[in-house]
Amino acid sequence: MIYLNGSFMPIEEAKVSVLDRGFLFGDGVYEVIPVYGGQPFRLQEHLRRLDDSLRGIRMESPLDEGEWLNVFTRLITGTHDQYLYLQVTRGAAPKRDHAIPSGIEPTVFVMCSPITPVAPEGVTAVTVPDIRWQWCHIKAITLLSNVLLRQEALDQGAIEGILIREGRVIEGAASNVFAVLNGVLVTPPKSHELLPGITRDLVLELARANGIPCEERLMRLDEVRQADEIWLTSSTREILPVVLLDQTPVGEGNPGPLWVRLHQLYQDYKETLRHP
Ligand code: PDD
Repeated sequence: MIYLNGSFMPIEEAKVSVLDRGFLFGDGVYEVIPVYGGQPFRLQEHLRRLDDSLRGIRMESPLDEGEWLNVFTRLITGTHDQYLYLQVTRGAAPKRDHAIPSGIEPTVFVMCSPITPVAPEGVTAVTVPDIRWQWCHIKAITLLSNVLLRQEALDQGAIEGILIREGRVIEGAASNVFAVLNGVLVTPPKSHELLPGITRDLVLELARANGIPCEERLMRLDEVRQADEIWLTSSTREILPVVLLDQTPVGEGNPGPLWVRLHQLYQDYKETLRHP
């Protein structure tokens, strides 16, 4: 079952107008919310980011927190790890026109899918130029550059592209980036250049609560190339250790000791949700 504009239905029956501005212009935003033990993870944080994204494209949330939760609860089945995908577009206007139309209803779509587990043996990544627009803090559905950058990484045999802008590491094509530099866990500060990842915030929170030194600062690619560890974080992939960057081993070429520790802290944290 999926949710579309106030109704629940099998996905095969869901229909959206070809005049929908999401289809024509990529005019909309989305969220990806993990679900552990049947509970949406960090719900307030995800809904706050959704509000920020909507405000960023001159829209308002079509549902309030209680209404979102009712929709989510009806879509979540079982207690396995899954994720909610929700998308709000500006809706269908009578004709195609770039200008934002008034008085149209947004299109609201939610589905729930299983999460496949992380790869604890580590993954490979390659650096690619960040060709995206300048409002990357908005979780917009307009993802063509992310799609092309991820595909470029896949074509090179890697699973993620790490985006580089003016010699700085920004984030992954669909993830945030951390590096362990001289014993300090470093990630770039929040700005319009990157998505403020919910997983990123939790990793920093867990690190700080456990006395692991961490810093939010700009990261140069040349220092990241010397990092002891590099990680990618996202709602669907949790914390992924990168063991090969641009064909060069990261540290010893295995998931590092700090990753082992944070991964365990993350799993323990998830467990508290499963058994509150
Ligand atoms: N992407 N940066 C980008 C560009 C992303 O697309 C994502 C997540 C993240 C990590 O954010 P979070 O920890 O809140 O998931 C960072 C989702 C999972 C996606 O597009 O499917």
